[in-house]
Amino acid sequence: MCGIVGFTGAAQAAPILLDGLAKLEYRGYDSAGLAVQNAAGKIEVVKAKGRLKVLHEMTDGGNAVPGSCGIGHTRWATHGEPSVVNAHPHYSRDQKIAVVHNGIIENYLEIKERLVNRGYTFVSQTDTEVVAQLLDYYYTGESAGDALDAISRMMLHVRGSYALGILFADQPGTLYAVRKDSPLIVGQCENGSIIASDVPALLKYTRTVYYIDNLEIARLTPDSIEFFNIDKEPVSHETTTIEWDAEAAEKGGYEHFMMKEIHEQPAAVRDTISPRLKDGKIDLSELALDEEAIRTVRRVYIIGCGSAYHVGMAARYVFESLARLPVEVDVASEFRYRNPVLEKDSLALVISQSGETADTLAALRLCKERGVRTIGIVNVVGSSIAREADATMYTWAGPEISVATTKAYSTQLAACYLLATEFARVRGTLVDGQYENLVAEMEALPDKIEKILADKERIQWFASKYANAKDAFFIGRGLDYATALEGSLKFKEISYIHSEAFAAGEMKHGPISLVENGTLVVGILTQPDLFEKSVSNMVEVKSRGAFLMGLTTYGNYSIEDTAGFTVYVPKTDPHFATSLAVIPLQLLAYYVSCAKGLDVDKPRNLAKSVTVE
Ligand code: AGP
Repeated sequence: MCGIVGFTGAAQAAPILLDGLAKLEYRGYDSAGLAVQNAAGKIEVVKAKGRLKVLHEMTDGGNAVPGSCGIGHTRWATHGEPSVVNAHPHYSRDQKIAVVHNGIIENYLEIKERLVNRGYTFVSQTDTEVVAQLLDYYYTGESAGDALDAISRMMLHVRGSYALGILFADQPGTLYAVRKDSPLIVGQCENGSIIASDVPALLKYTRTVYYIDNLEIARLTPDSIEFFNIDKEPVSHETTTIEWDAEAAEKGGYEHFMMKEIHEQPAAVRDTISPRLKDGKIDLSELALDEEAIRTVRRVYIIGCGSAYHVGMAARYVFESLARLPVEVDVASEFRYRNPVLEKDSLALVISQSGETADTLAALRLCKERGVRTIGIVNVVGSSIAREADATMYTWAGPEISVATTKAYSTQLAACYLLATEFARVRGTLVDGQYENLVAEMEALPDKIEKILADKERIQWFASKYANAKDAFFIGRGLDYATALEGSLKFKEISYIHSEAFAAGEMKHGPISLVENGTLVVGILTQPDLFEKSVSNMVEVKSRGAFLMGLTTYGNYSIEDTAGFTVYVPKTDPHFATSLAVIPLQLLAYYVSCAKGLDVDKPRNLAKSVTVE
């Protein structure tokens, strides 16, 4: 949601902060600000509502705000409407402390009341200003002059999630960073030290980073980086070298990150599968899940949000069909509050591209509290979910910048195929030769995705006819229903056209009343045993005036008797068909959004990582 950048070193801070914040724009924001400390320690704050461009112009690209130590922020409003007053950084009283924050302080109102009773006044509606004033309360009172102690006391009193950047006027050149649940990384540059919410913001300055753990404090000076726990005890961290090249975080010649990432799917799926195949066998040794442990699993829980949840919906069919294991799939924001009955001897797959989604992280923690073994299926190395899960199966999709996920979704599917197939082998639920065939089909998926992408112009042509559609429905049975869910989400989130997915058999139980003359209905038919029934459902809606797009595998040419437009995908094992059928649906959504001239990579109201509830 919000983006944080901080720098201290032998260079003007403001231009570095602005450059770093620009690389975090994908996180979604409505205002931005900088706090820069000059040599004498005075902290100057400049804030602006709207896009970063406004702040850039106000500060002449940062040159109008001299100083070599500073913090910057892009805000995605949670407490208090988007405004200059509510934008970060926030001062403490008498401007001795400045704070930027990503996350939510859940008990900020009770703290605010206590501070008001002690004479503090507030100018904003934000929870962040409460943090700044609380720091001041400790720093000028019980913890007079000891920044580390003031920060520690603040941490002991606030509840919620936070990544903080903090400056103290009487500590020129020193920058503090604090983390609980929200993402924050620390980097060592040639000319100083840097903090950021995510990798793209600091790639230009360093590849050497530290992942700060929960409830830790980092103290950065131009030539040192120290870490402390909440008790102010020093802790040490190893550095991680970021392998992503700067190019990988840019658009690579495509008009939008989304199209680049759609085209990266063959490589991303290959990178996720291949390292886990050794001599034709699936190798899950990274999960420390031996055959005995696999045999004890009696139930699988799959939890995620949005597209990650849709991966779970597809994975359930694959797991239950291949491994004959009961699977429950939950939206994380529901799972965490429904007081679920979780069985012993079960396994939770917690799926998240960012590894920072608040609801998914909370669901992971609930599983751990209940003694359920957890596996994170995560794309961002070192993210919270990756570090808190009992084991993590990384999806090697590389940086995914577009808000609408594509390659991360596809690699999450691939990870689930590997798990389901290996579980099936160990549990002895496969017929002779089936394991080898499944492995071969997984290995063949990247080339088949490539083949679909080669035919994208037909979809572009079709999409241009539906830029003004009022509704679009996606229907399918079995795995095709799971695919329909993802196709509908892609469509609605970047084209802003109302779209829904239905289990095809459900149409006659209500949704068919929505079908009007010309309504676009996309029928997905990749499951051989459900093909005929799905065709019948398509005929039902066609007879009510719908325009049908058929999406099926090569060879099912009879669909052209029913569908007005058909897209074919290569055959694969039916368990893996989602990985192919989803590609035309990603392209359809992309081209409709482009036809409408919308901001494909940064759709309105959405953020790449939803790190608040
Ligand atoms: C999907 O295109 C959306 N960006 C959104 O639904 C996303 O999948 C969801 O917010 C989960 O994000 P995560 O994978 O980072 O946890």
